[in-house]
Amino acid sequence: MSFRATRRELLLGAGSLALLSRIPVGWALPREDARTPAFVDALLGRMTVEEKAGQLTLLGSVAANTAAAAINPETRHPSASAQLEAARAGQLTGVFNGANVAWHRRMQDAAMQGRLKIPLLFAADVIHGFSTVFPVPLGEAASFEPELARRTARAAAQEASAAGIDWTFAPMVDVARDARWGRGVEGTGEDVLLGRRMAAARVRGFQGDGLSRPDAIAACPKHFVAYGAAEGGLDYNSVDVSERTLREVYFPPFRAGFDAGALTTMAAFNELSGIPATGNAWLLGDVLRGEWNYQGLVVSDYTGDLELIAHGFASDERDATRKAFLAGVDISMQSGLYLRWLPALVASGEVPMARLDASVRRVLRFKAALGLFDDPYLRIRSEQQAQARQRLPETLQLAREAACKSVVMLKNDHDVLPLDPAGQRIALIGPMARDVANIHGPWTLFGGDESGHDLASAMRAAMTDPQALEVVDGSGFDDALPGGIEQAVRAARAADVAVLAIGEPQKYSGEAQSRTDIVVPEAQQQLVEAVAATGKPLVVLLSNGRALALRGAVLEAPAILVTWFLGSQSGPALADLLFGKASPSGRLPVSFPREPGQLPYYYAHKPTGRPDPQPDRLDAFKTHYRGIPNAALFPFGHGLGYGRIEYDALDIGSARLPSDGALEVRARIRNRGRRAAEEVVQLYVRDRAASVTRPVRELKDFRKLALAAGASAEVTFTLRREDLLFVGTALDPTVEPGTFDLWVAPSAEADGLHATFELLA
Ligand code: BGC
Repeated sequence: MSFRATRRELLLGAGSLALLSRIPVGWALPREDARTPAFVDALLGRMTVEEKAGQLTLLGSVAANTAAAAINPETRHPSASAQLEAARAGQLTGVFNGANVAWHRRMQDAAMQGRLKIPLLFAADVIHGFSTVFPVPLGEAASFEPELARRTARAAAQEASAAGIDWTFAPMVDVARDARWGRGVEGTGEDVLLGRRMAAARVRGFQGDGLSRPDAIAACPKHFVAYGAAEGGLDYNSVDVSERTLREVYFPPFRAGFDAGALTTMAAFNELSGIPATGNAWLLGDVLRGEWNYQGLVVSDYTGDLELIAHGFASDERDATRKAFLAGVDISMQSGLYLRWLPALVASGEVPMARLDASVRRVLRFKAALGLFDDPYLRIRSEQQAQARQRLPETLQLAREAACKSVVMLKNDHDVLPLDPAGQRIALIGPMARDVANIHGPWTLFGGDESGHDLASAMRAAMTDPQALEVVDGSGFDDALPGGIEQAVRAARAADVAVLAIGEPQKYSGEAQSRTDIVVPEAQQQLVEAVAATGKPLVVLLSNGRALALRGAVLEAPAILVTWFLGSQSGPALADLLFGKASPSGRLPVSFPREPGQLPYYYAHKPTGRPDPQPDRLDAFKTHYRGIPNAALFPFGHGLGYGRIEYDALDIGSARLPSDGALEVRARIRNRGRRAAEEVVQLYVRDRAASVTRPVRELKDFRKLALAAGASAEVTFTLRREDLLFVGTALDPTVEPGTFDLWVAPSAEADGLHATFELLA
């Protein structure tokens, strides 16, 4: 059995994105071998109910390394021999988070010795790279370059598939608008359009030219749905959002992932307006399978089905199994509930056999699509072959490029940057100065040895006189170091410039890592205050897994670079930027608020009945907190480079947009600086009056331009009626004639160039 049409061919054939969003998602995209349905039905006909329940049971691999084991709560793991036996007995559909070719070959051997010889699946959290670690997804989103996300996902898939992985639990496509939530680091931030484009790109990257190819891994957009809307930014907390907001904000990145060919999704941990997503028949049934005609698989999150009991939604394990399964969860991850309870539920008639068969059919077709019935060892050839594909020079080069493109320069007053590698004495200060334990981010399970890629070594390697760099820790992440501040101040005094490598350690973000106060930890803030008092120019390099509220000397520093967690090539990429070998080109995918108390803050908020028209004036009885404008400190889309960019000559052709026409929006972007730079030109729109209130601005398109010193370029966007759709009063896609504002701007809150137009009836 084989699947010859590549996804690219199918996508090209399918035409425009607008058309794609109307065709059914899932199996409609990869062309199935004509023999598959008959093959699957014949196999299904030979299976016992227990074997069927086995095909719906996924468990942690006993070969999971310590990093992989540490990301989930501890559960009872079977012994190696028990897991082999389960594979042989057909009690398992696959295992996750192991990447051990020899062991997985033994597991597959056991499955092949079983009665039905159904191959096992090997899944893993390949979130942002495998042995080569790319920037955290939130960082990579700052590149505003979906093609980069496609390339890094492709490279991750090449490494992971060679090491035996068939299926990744990625991309995480949860829109995240509350910076307290620690899992925002795994996604693409607050914006729907950026989220959709990145979701599609990552799916395409993971799945490559066809799922049955040995270097493809199946994608799994997660967590369905609205996990990022947890109340108070508290991980796992309840979510209560309107159906309109679900449809407008939280659903679209999933649709984009499915339209790009993803065949699986993961049910979220959270409840959704009273009904846990894992037991939500409206969500998984009516919407996903009904309305969207999704033909793919739904997997629970880790023990998500069992957790229906703690939610207070199921009375016991049997009830939890019934509710999760009947709601539409095909595969149970880690709890073992399906294996334990589905046979009895089918025997009692509470779960119809036809429903069980439908889920098993989906699993078998998924395995067929992955090429596993043709060759169960497709991605577990040999340890040598696995090793031969890891950390290749071109992959490391891509990691350096991605790291460079992920960094956002918030400020560069008086052109403090770039530094001079030949002339300046530099004090490098802070807990990230020579750290290698915090460069990967919180979701790295398989990253390799990183020695030598710390910032200090990379800076030294780039400097003419390595002695001109003095390195001082100055502080721990959380706690002061004895004498640390004194040492740091001494080093700064002896230098021309102080570079402060500070911020959050990676454990501050990721799963179950919500923060209440999203600021630079106090010990480090004090360090920066003391170094700033020397009067030396400061360059702040912030490590962070979320937007931070910056204060005091950190905020006052003339130069600030947001560096997230950049992965394997963190040090070299930062040295490239600091010394001007590359120009910063990232833009914020999340707004940085002025104060943590503004959260959730996102640029696409509604105007309210009393908007504050002049954020700097703080008029009474207008929408703002005491003393704080209702605006970001650094808004979504903001970022600087080493050029000097100017926008002018906005031309929209006509101020009237016929309902079947298009507006050509043109602007001239000029680099008046002395260095090359990249600019992310952003198109925003506001619908002034509609039957449902609209956000103050919405991103409709963006374009990244490379501009040599002194160069200019014209950027053109095309705006059509369908770009102005919103979820109307009847929860249907709606567009209404009327007046719209339009901005071509360098950020969501910058004035940029402005025009208005009328959408005609
Ligand atoms: C996370 C998922 C992850 C799963 C398996 C869960 O705790 O929420 O995102 O894929 O564990 O590691």
